[in-house]
Amino acid sequence: MKILVAGGAGFIGSHLIDSFLKEGHEIVCVDKLIFGDNNIRHLRSDKYLQESGRFKFYEMELANQDHVNRILTENKIDAAYHLAANSDIQKGGREPSIDFNDTLLTTRALLEGMRMANVRNLFFASTSAIYGEMQDIKLTETTGGLKPVSYYGGAKLASEALISSYVSMCDMSAVIFRFPNVIGPRLTHGVVFDFIRKLRMNPHELEILGDGTQCKPYIYVLDLIEAIVRLTKEFKPGEEVYNISVRSAGTTVTRIAEIVTEELGLSDVVFTYTGGDRGWKGDVPRFDYDISKVLSTGWEPKYTSDEAVRQTVRDAIDAGM
Ligand SMILES: NC(=O)c1ccc[n+]([C@@H]2O[C@H](COP(=O)([O-])OP(=O)(O)OC[C@H]3O[C@@H](n4cnc5c(N)ncnc54)[C@H](O)[C@@H]3O)[C@@H](O)[C@H]2O)c1
Repeated sequence: MKILVAGGAGFIGSHLIDSFLKEGHEIVCVDKLIFGDNNIRHLRSDKYLQESGRFKFYEMELANQDHVNRILTENKIDAAYHLAANSDIQKGGREPSIDFNDTLLTTRALLEGMRMANVRNLFFASTSAIYGEMQDIKLTETTGGLKPVSYYGGAKLASEALISSYVSMCDMSAVIFRFPNVIGPRLTHGVVFDFIRKLRMNPHELEILGDGTQCKPYIYVLDLIEAIVRLTKEFKPGEEVYNISVRSAGTTVTRIAEIVTEELGLSDVVFTYTGGDRGWKGDVPRFDYDISKVLSTGWEPKYTSDEAVRQTVRDAIDAGM
């Protein structure tokens, strides 16, 4: 298959591309390189991939309709994976236009481009943030009355709604994946990344946002990629939504701090708390996913939430962080 990966230079997108290339697919990667091209440099410098045309890269703004149209005219795409979005939710909270452009308008431009180029199959990276604050119930794919509490969550839920309308109006098919927190090698943001960075600067004290009891599931990125690849193989026409997560309970922020300090070989680190039940406005302090639908496909995550955190710290140390 010839696969377009929007946001393919990012943390998750680059792992997905590595996996698809191993499976023999051809990749068209599009990204405006907010975090640079570190994650795809190995592909851009691979002579065989370049000469065979199995990996093509476009550095482009995906919210721009002309750009998207050009890519879809130049390449006959079988399926598009849309992973481009703002991943810095706090930054988006300070400046809503970031989520509007990178999270929502990219979806609009891609859908419209697909409609015009007759590309029928879309896989979309959505998020637990679309559920908003529903702390006391197990969230299933059919849970309704959703009220996102961040611009990011709002832009993702609006994207899901647009996708549904294109599926219905243009006979497209779509698979929507709702990820929890994703961690692992090549991570560029999030609590594990922040803690390592802060402790490298000051190994005696760690400031923790909120009261440390925020508790969420963390999935290891390679487990997530396996789920996406499996759901790609099981793909059927129409629209499907999957919560993807770990089997175990979530990990608290204080527990993450403990694992990070242990793995960095630090003792006597003083944890200080900024207080309150959440890290920042727009943060959802806890949620619990029902993942029976994805488990029924036979996919099984290898790591628990705690193990994923521990492995991610080891990966970061191996990468020289
Ligand atoms: N990482 C997580 O914990 C997590 C959780 C839930 C959902 N997701 C979703 O998964 C997807 C991938 O996340 P990630 O962690 O790899 O993020 P990332 O920031 O590492 O990757 C996103 C990529 O999209 C690109 N991009 C953003 N806006 C663009 C635009 N307007 N034009 C072109 N390129 C653009 C960025 O340059 C970046 O390379 C995102 O859609 C994200 O919302 C991630």
